[in-house]
Amino acid sequence: MNDTDKAIELIRNAKKMVVFTGAGVSTNCGVPDFRGPNGLYATVGKRFNLPYPEAVFDIDYFRQNPLPFFQLSKEMFGEKIQPTIFHKYIAQVEAEGRLSILVTQNIDMLHTIAGNKKQIECHGTYSHATCTRCGKHYQLADIEETMSKGEIPYCSCGGVIKPDIVFFGENLPMEFYDIMQDPPEADLVLAAGTSLTVYPAAGFPLLYCKKKIPSILINMQNTQYDSYFDYVIHEDIDEFTKKVMKKS
Ligand code: OAD
Repeated sequence: MNDTDKAIELIRNAKKMVVFTGAGVSTNCGVPDFRGPNGLYATVGKRFNLPYPEAVFDIDYFRQNPLPFFQLSKEMFGEKIQPTIFHKYIAQVEAEGRLSILVTQNIDMLHTIAGNKKQIECHGTYSHATCTRCGKHYQLADIEETMSKGEIPYCSCGGVIKPDIVFFGENLPMEFYDIMQDPPEADLVLAAGTSLTVYPAAGFPLLYCKKKIPSILINMQNTQYDSYFDYVIHEDIDEFTKKVMKKS
């Protein structure tokens, strides 16, 4: 059996799967990743005249100049962006009662749209927002029209309304720190479509590698943690998922 076949067997037989995802699971539906060859960080700096690419998600930069974030956000979600084969498969794993927890770094809401509920969006989400001045809470629907034009949404108090996405310089949701402290039980950890470069999120799947729980990484490119995983498959996530779903 080669590594791909072993990984497929582990996934099919898992009863308590921990899944950790990054931007690479959404590239097939048109959302670019950050650090891949066609990633956002290669172009965003020039396009929006930023001091450095990550500034678009930096809270200090956002406080001075929120426009680039909203110009970029216009391209990050919308009706045309729909779940992939992989998103649907992970929703199926949950429906079958085989998901321990899904932790996603993605802010595109595609796991939710696919049907996953047992999940932590550790870098937040566009689905709700907060006024940066008075703290009033909003739903995406309240600011969607303004955001779809790439414009800044303002609260009635005059403050900028910021989607509840975790920017560099902000804390992750408390529920993420809780699972880092007390990781849910698992018989398999699957990390997919992530460069594993952003901490503390990237530390979550590695907790299971350290505990010698069987581990799989599916990612197009090498990551600095490939050697921590039992099976590393450098392949398109949907092509791999098709093989998992194929009737044998
Ligand atoms: P990255 O862009 O760093 O990594 C995405 C990885 O997915 C790359 O290594 C690609 O090779 C791989 N990839 C792309 N398409 C793929 C495909 N179809 N199949 C398999 N692999 C594919 O994205 P993240 O690891 O998610 O933070 O980045 C982590 C965080 O950095 C993000 O959550 C974001 C960013 O700054 C915030 O938004 C706060």
